Amino acid sequence: MNKYLKQYTWANIGSMLKNNSSLPKEAPQDFTGRLVVITGATSGIGYETARMYASRGADILCINRSPTKSKSLKDEILRDFGVSIDCHIADFSRISEVHACADMLAGLPRDIAGLIHNAGVYNTKKKFTADNVEEVFQVNYLASFIITYKLMEKLRAQDRARVIYVNSEGHRFAIAGFKPRDLGWERRRYTGLRGYGSAKTAQLLAMLGFAEYFEGSGATINAMHPGDVRTNMGENNGKIYRFFKHLLINPTARDPRLSAQALYYLGAFPDLDASNGKFYNYTTEEIPAPHALDHEMAETVWELSLDLGGLR
Ligand SMILES: NC(=O)c1ccc[n+]([C@@H]2O[C@H](COP(=O)([O-])OP(=O)(O)OC[C@H]3O[C@@H](n4cnc5c(N)ncnc54)[C@H](OP(=O)(O)O)[C@@H]3O)[C@@H](O)[C@H]2O)c1
Repeated sequence: MNKYLKQYTWANIGSMLKNNSSLPKEAPQDFTGRLVVITGATSGIGYETARMYASRGADILCINRSPTKSKSLKDEILRDFGVSIDCHIADFSRISEVHACADMLAGLPRDIAGLIHNAGVYNTKKKFTADNVEEVFQVNYLASFIITYKLMEKLRAQDRARVIYVNSEGHRFAIAGFKPRDLGWERRRYTGLRGYGSAKTAQLLAMLGFAEYFEGSGATINAMHPGDVRTNMGENNGKIYRFFKHLLINPTARDPRLSAQALYYLGAFPDLDASNGKFYNYTTEEIPAPHALDHEMAETVWELSLDLGGLR
């Protein structure tokens, strides 16, 4: 029996089920004059989150892969809210573009009040990037590691900074834990849920290291599950997957504006200034699966991310 199963507190699963159908809390505060950086803002949760922060007066900087969608987003936000918005183009399936994005952010002459790592992809079949890394691992996790790592000092030096990982309850699918010696999925069968769960688990493990680094400063890092919401996630997959997604998942999926409301609360509500290294389901704190709390594995993930991310 795998060691993590023995550590499971089944009441935590009960809490997760209850929280999945709850409504996120709302923060009444505004964000005027402060900068929020959002990755993957051209669709779904990121798009609604950019609109949410813009509606509260934030200056917006989006990191997107599509220049065309970025132009529409920028025009729309300017038209609807009149706030400052910029888009930087980076495809996270190319590590060189992730580095260029991180360097641009590290060189910004102003504070980053909120950094929301949202960009993500779901693949039903194993796929590798030009950097020869499994794509879901690179886009959903490694890119967020590289960016946060390169911004660590800047964020720690600020009076206040909130880093938020748009993670997932899907981390629980990596039930046997993160497997650092089989990143290429040669020894195990790849499935969409396993690949996705593994990438989200790596992100939660890396969060432990960043949270430790930020301790005692004005910077914090937390992760959240944004609900099961109707977005473009998975639409890149084949016809059969899409058929079942539209038939079985979409009808019960919720509105991504709820995720945006939660991401605004986690980024703006003052009482969360001391929350660091926590996992939220929408806006309710939860205990992640035991394999995402394994400190020894967290160190392994940290080291391999430095190697894969070219950060040595
Ligand atoms: N939907 C859910 O129920 C759910 C549940 C739990 C967690 N999440 C998480 O929520 C986050 C947002 O997902 P979503 O549901 O809003 O899906 P979505 O509508 O597909 O949005 C994903 C965003 O990521 C961007 N992206 C994808 N691949 C990229 C790449 N290689 N480089 C840069 N950006 C890239 C997409 O850009 P394009 O517009 O160019 O494709 C899009 O802006 C993800 O991290 C996902 O894992 C979603």
